[in-house]
This record gives sequence, C-alpha cells and structure tokens, in this order.
Amino acid sequence: MNEQKDPQRLREEILDKVREYYRAEFGNNSRGGDGRIPYAGRVFDETELTYLVDVSLDFWLTAGRYAERFEQELAAFLGVRFCSLVNSGSSANLLAFMALTSPELGERRIRRGDEVITVACGFPTTVAPIVQYGATPVFVDVSLPTYNIDCARLAEALSKKTKAVMIAHT
Ligand SMILES: Cc1ncc(COP(=O)(O)O)c(C=O)c1O
Repeated sequence: MNEQKDPQRLREEILDKVREYYRAEFGNNSRGGDGRIPYAGRVFDETELTYLVDVSLDFWLTAGRYAERFEQELAAFLGVRFCSLVNSGSSANLLAFMALTSPELGERRIRRGDEVITVACGFPTTVAPIVQYGATPVFVDVSLPTYNIDCARLAEALSKKTKAVMIAHT
C-alpha cells in the first residue's frame, strides 16, 4: 500500500533537490564568476531556480505570488508607489510611452504629430511605440566608443514640436 505523503513535505524535498541540482549543474558560475553581470544570456542563481520550480508546483503559469512580491519590493527599492511587472522590455517601453500620452498630463502629454527625440543606433522597440502612436521619431546619432546618444547633438534635434527624449543607454 502506498504511504500518503504530505504535499508540503514533498515540496520541500523537491526544492532541496533543486538546490542540490543547481550546485551540481551550474556551480556558482551563472553570474559570470568574476562578479560581473553579463548583458545577455541566462543569468540566474540558486534562489531563482528554486522559485521557478516552486511556482511550477502551484501550476500557476501567469503572474502570481512571486510577481506580486517583486513588484512590491522593486517599488520600495525605487521609492515609488506603484510598479507593474510586464512580460518583456518591449512591453515596458510601450507602457512607459503610452503613460506619457495620458490626458492627465495636460499640455505636457505627447500627442499624435509631436516629435520625440530618440537614438539612431538602438533597439527597434525603443522607436516602435513612438511610431505606433503616431508621433514622429527624430533620430540623433551615437558617439563612439560608448554607442550612447551624442548629447552634444541633442540641441540640433530640438524643435517647437519636441515633447520628449526617449532613449536606452548601452
Ligand atoms: C534597449 C532595449 N529595449 C528593449 C529590448 C527588448 O527586450 P525584450 O526582448 O524583453 O522585449 C532590448 C533587448 O535587448 C533592449 O536592449
């Protein structure tokens, strides 16, 4: 006869195994070893792998308890009242831009036809929300070797229609 196991105890056993698995498979190397955080690639530690398996055992596959905790703790860290977790950087850019079109901002809001200064060498979804909304992107070149916007040329891009500067730093 099968012994009935306590689900909570089983969960703890699984999570202990996950920690053991992490150490065996990934060691301490996923953060680059030298303390640097790589720009791209899979960057995670033992805690993140454990949380991932933990929520998978709830079979809660959309934003759930860890997402809520992340929003609260990030808001506290940043000293802001609200924080909304989204699925990607592109979605975050879209929401940030759309927030700037809100009528609540009165005359300061971005309207269709307004100009938004952005960087010529960047990620497509920095520019996409500007175009999608019907505003006009005005491109400023980068400076080398940083590949960041050339601040010395920002003034040239300014016009009476300019409402915002939307860029990402490399
Ligand atoms: C500046 C910038 N914006 C947006 C993104 C897009 O992020 P996601 O792939 O999460 O939509 C990237 C991705 O590398 C990025 O570098």
